[in-house]
Amino acid sequence: MTSSQNKFFNSQSKMPLIGALIKSIAQKNVAFHTPGHKQGQGISQPLERLLGKTAFTADLPELPELDNLFAPSGVIKKAQKLAAEAFGAEQTWFLVDGSTCGIVAAILATCNPGDKIVLPRNIHQSAIAGLILSGAVPIFVSPYYDPLWDLSYSITPNSLKQVLEENSDVKAVMVVYPTYHGVCSDIKAIVDLTHCRGIPLLVDEAHGGHFTFHQDLPPCALSMGADLSVQSTHKVLGAMTQASMLHLQGTRIDPQRISRALQLIESTSPSYLLLASLDGARQQIALQGKELLDKTIELSRKARQELSQIQGLSILDLKEPFDSFYYLDTTRLTVNVTALKLSGFEVDKILHKQLGITAELPMLRHLAFIISIGNTIDDITKLIAAFQVLGNAYYCPHTPTFPYPHLPVPQSPYPPISPRETFFAVTEMVDFNYSLGRISGDLICSYPPGIPILMPGEEITNHILEYLQIVLALGASITGCSDPHLQKLKVLA
Ligand SMILES: Cc1ncc(COP(=O)(O)O)c(C=O)c1O
Repeated sequence: MTSSQNKFFNSQSKMPLIGALIKSIAQKNVAFHTPGHKQGQGISQPLERLLGKTAFTADLPELPELDNLFAPSGVIKKAQKLAAEAFGAEQTWFLVDGSTCGIVAAILATCNPGDKIVLPRNIHQSAIAGLILSGAVPIFVSPYYDPLWDLSYSITPNSLKQVLEENSDVKAVMVVYPTYHGVCSDIKAIVDLTHCRGIPLLVDEAHGGHFTFHQDLPPCALSMGADLSVQSTHKVLGAMTQASMLHLQGTRIDPQRISRALQLIESTSPSYLLLASLDGARQQIALQGKELLDKTIELSRKARQELSQIQGLSILDLKEPFDSFYYLDTTRLTVNVTALKLSGFEVDKILHKQLGITAELPMLRHLAFIISIGNTIDDITKLIAAFQVLGNAYYCPHTPTFPYPHLPVPQSPYPPISPRETFFAVTEMVDFNYSLGRISGDLICSYPPGIPILMPGEEITNHILEYLQIVLALGASITGCSDPHLQKLKVLA
């Protein structure tokens, strides 16, 4: 080991936040502060049976020795500094409200009301919240659409170049890298396009927190020059649900504005369980990332190889990169089930209820599975066995043309009315069948993955109405509709 590696390992073995929590618990002070359960003394019996008491003893508020998330000067500052070093950032913020709050903060920190920002049309709904709060005006670039897989990927450098040439006053660009299905665009080319115009690239890297730690994974966005990256540490590494990070480098974004934005939107009572889990997850992946991810990548390879042998299944891969999509995170497994003559939702139900397997994301034609450092060979064996059962039971060699519609893609990158204006506009509810041609007041998503089918401020088209009806009938859960039964839609009055 070289001396710089040695130094890295020595510093990364520390866990300042976890250490401070252990010390604080050992003090056994009598608590006259929040939370009301007083380190587990006041929890309900069923809750104690479910979770045990230990976690509650660490569920402490911002005590003097535990620092302050919004003005870090002690153990949180130290833990964030170690995270920045591990993830290759100049500064890192711990987030307790998921990547969701990091994405909102990224937009608030880079756009003033009326400023233009370029985003892919299939952006996560948290970015729409960022647009509403900031008043930034979106330019939605249609992502590359793969009709075979019915998947929208991300912005290509060519489509970005065109929109930047048409709009010389864009203030920021946001991309999703990787997509939910692990597909990665040419981030270096996108970085170059934004930087030559002096504007920052914000990356929703919610699904890419592991990239930094293994050379066989796609390169992480910061290493390619992105200014800001938001990662859901909880999605792919060992942190607890919601625990996420925002990383920053360079001088195009003011770090103080990030801090101010996060103060505006995050809870003033951050959970130390979440914060400590970020400290632990960072230490684990920094010290053991190579070996943990070697194992994960090998498990994924086995799953891909064996599932692709099962009749009726095909697996998303990028053996032949297309357009500007060069990389695939192979730990993200997307299985196409069209030849089983079942929708992804139907397969999901059978897997979950009858075969003991729970997928991450079912869609109409396929299901996505996350294989991570937490999975074992036993999990992979069960997944393969379950799909063998499905293949034997449902494979239909002459599958007729698949009857489902494709995700609707709007014609124009410029929504007629901004998300913010729409949010504050006077609206009315109209019958679903009479909503054609009206402007949507709702952000309607099928969830997961939280990709908007209809944005606030967009025109309701025939294709959208048809798509909504069909995916609802097929069992997708639609969120964001003011009328959950979808008999009426909220439109601008
Ligand atoms: C692409 C993408 N970005 C952002 C988010 C939000 O992340 P979080 O759940 O950590 O708030 C998600 C959540 O699924 C996502 O898929």
